[in-house]
Amino acid sequence: MLILDSVAAMQQWSQARRQAGQDIAFVPTMGFLHQGHVSLLDAARKAADLLVLSIFVNPTQFGAGEDFDTYPQDLAKDTHLAKKAGVDVVFVPPAAQMYPQGYNSWVEVAGITEVLCGASRPGHFRGVTTVVNKLFNIIAPRVAFFGNKDFQQLAVIRRMVKDLNLPVDIVGLPIVREADGLAMSSRNSYLAQEERQQALCLSQAIAQAQQLAKNGELRVTEILHRLRMSIESHLLVKIDYLKICHQDSLQEQMLVDENSVLLLAVFIGRTRLIDNAFVMEPVAKIPL
Ligand code: PAF
Repeated sequence: MLILDSVAAMQQWSQARRQAGQDIAFVPTMGFLHQGHVSLLDAARKAADLLVLSIFVNPTQFGAGEDFDTYPQDLAKDTHLAKKAGVDVVFVPPAAQMYPQGYNSWVEVAGITEVLCGASRPGHFRGVTTVVNKLFNIIAPRVAFFGNKDFQQLAVIRRMVKDLNLPVDIVGLPIVREADGLAMSSRNSYLAQEERQQALCLSQAIAQAQQLAKNGELRVTEILHRLRMSIESHLLVKIDYLKICHQDSLQEQMLVDENSVLLLAVFIGRTRLIDNAFVMEPVAKIPL
């Protein structure tokens, strides 16, 4: 397994491999890998001749006062997991090469970036689409893998790829959860013991919404009212947003149907966590 820490070396490797007739699967990450990332690597390994993992804590997708400076990192553990997953190249570009002095170009998707996380974190998706575009240009993958946990991010990336005719297939894979239901996230490492316990309100809210829909309650206002009461009974939790939206447009819905996705973002102490699920999916196997 190669570890490449220069944009030029990554581009040369990719060009040579593609000229030799090999195709590349790509998993972009910010590192501090967990089983959710490993599930992406496992699927990507099977999808192409070669597998590239990028680890880059992208400064442009963090707002002022967010956790860029404290974002967890463990390159030794990440490279160990990458090797086990059969990664061919770990790409760890320095920020100064990704955004050299004078850098002033941005990729921006309108519309679906203006709601949910886009409303709470202005500029976040511009940073994401810009860096993903740059990584696609450097690595030139045939296929790239993303987790469904960042549901809106995946929708934004699909929109960008379609709108800009990027020659990359985008694959989204299911959320990987801890045994008690908490969606895996690098940010879970910030949680103190009591916060970790209260973080279960996210997956419990999903199970509650799915149960309500299964029982015939399809009115979004009523479902969200009940969820809000459950979540707000957790004293360390503050809701950022709690919405049921159409899976494609991300527009809020009045009535639940098979396109409805419950999207949640909460602060638990200083940690912001997100989760989501289709409301009409079979009731999640999440302890209520
Ligand atoms: O999902 C993430 O980890 C990041 O947003 C991504 C896609 C690697 C871009 O920095």
